[in-house]
Amino acid sequence: MKTKKIFVCTECGAKSPRWIGKCPECNSWNSYVEQTETKSSSSSVSRQQSDSKIYKLADVPTEENYRISTGIKELDRVLGGGIIPGSIVLAGGDPGIGKSTLMLQMCGGIKEFAPLYVTGEESLQQIKFRAARIKGIDEEMLILAETNLEQIIYHISSSESRVIIVDSIQSIHSEKIEATPGSVVQIRECTSALMQLAKQTNKAIFVIGHVTKEGVIAGPKILEHMVDTVLQFEGEKTYSYRILRAIKNRFGSTNEIGIFDMSDAGLREVSNPSEIFLSSREVQEPGTSIVAAMEGSRPLLLEVQALVTPTSYGVPQRTSNGYDSRRLQMVLAVLEKRLGAQFQKNDVFVNITGGVSLSDTSVDLGVAAALISSLRDQALDAMTVIIGEIGLTGEVRSVANLERRIGECEKLGFKSVMIPQNSISKLSKKFDIKLLPTARISLALSTLFG
Ligand code: TYD
Ligand code: MG
Repeated sequence: MKTKKIFVCTECGAKSPRWIGKCPECNSWNSYVEQTETKSSSSSVSRQQSDSKIYKLADVPTEENYRISTGIKELDRVLGGGIIPGSIVLAGGDPGIGKSTLMLQMCGGIKEFAPLYVTGEESLQQIKFRAARIKGIDEEMLILAETNLEQIIYHISSSESRVIIVDSIQSIHSEKIEATPGSVVQIRECTSALMQLAKQTNKAIFVIGHVTKEGVIAGPKILEHMVDTVLQFEGEKTYSYRILRAIKNRFGSTNEIGIFDMSDAGLREVSNPSEIFLSSREVQEPGTSIVAAMEGSRPLLLEVQALVTPTSYGVPQRTSNGYDSRRLQMVLAVLEKRLGAQFQKNDVFVNITGGVSLSDTSVDLGVAAALISSLRDQALDAMTVIIGEIGLTGEVRSVANLERRIGECEKLGFKSVMIPQNSISKLSKKFDIKLLPTARISLALSTLFG
């Protein structure tokens, strides 16, 4: 074994053989600290020493993919069906978003696995006080108030618990390392130790991490590569609902989202998300339209808001929240070219309500309709949903999962839905809701605005 002195950036984890004042990777100043790196020299691995074995694919023993249900359907779905023993999950999100609440509630649903909640941030009393507010918390659940990694590892290994929650990774530290708790070096070391522990003991470990202002979990991206699953808890301060997303999942899809509502008695599951994203639907203001996007395997009806106002000075602004701004530029260009709509002297703002961010191009047509609605100050029908991708020539292109989207519109009581013309023949089901097939953006808008 060889030891070597190196310098590591506490902000981004970049390494350097000598101290530098400004990190070339993340541009932070005075962030390098000295560390000792142990390297096993290549000669120390002798050829006879391997414990591993080469298998033929056919001979690989199949393990049953056993999953522990958390008792929270929305959480199970995002995890890919439940908790996998021996896996490590990083649960990130802004402070105050509800990470601790969600994890405490999860403990209530997995009593038979003797969940252990390790708190490094709050005292035992604080946890007890919080648990008293939340419905369905198990009085038998185990709590440990500890910030020392070695102590935590000792307790985890010697306990009966099959599922452990560490709240939070920023608050714990290993005594083997000099860096301060919360620094990149500590976070990385603690995560890696917990990961090894999870694999060795076949216990599932949930690690809570605060997201930095840049939106990166626990600072460095490296953490995401280390763990099996990365969950992100999102929400707007002004709304009570929260969205749980898997941004990485070795054991499932990353498309699924779980939706919760933060109430006085903890997080409530929202099984019909469209209802909360659509406000009262009797009247529709000019500049708004309803679209049907897909979030994972679920359709989600959302309101698009657009505002087109004369530019007061300089270059017209294009601002978009929740909808790709390059996509917005394209939709504007198509509307200008194919319909002669005038946006050159206007500022344009687009917002997907509820703070939802969409990567689904099926909302193009709805965005275009909202833009024209604001430009003409003419409201669209409140009971019509608009589905379709827009192509550069002004054609309305087909979208995936159309039947499921139409089904959701029908379920929520909408009267009609605009869909791409060329998808009509592919529909195998009969719908009661009125379908408005359309092939071109110009036809779509004349149908919608009469
Ligand atoms: P918390 O789970 O502590 O967030 P995090 O661990 O992500 O920092 O949630 C904190 C917020 O949630 C706090 O502002 C209070 C609120 N809250 C409720 O509204 N209802 C509840 O039942 C609980 C437990 C918390
Ligand atoms: Mg917390």
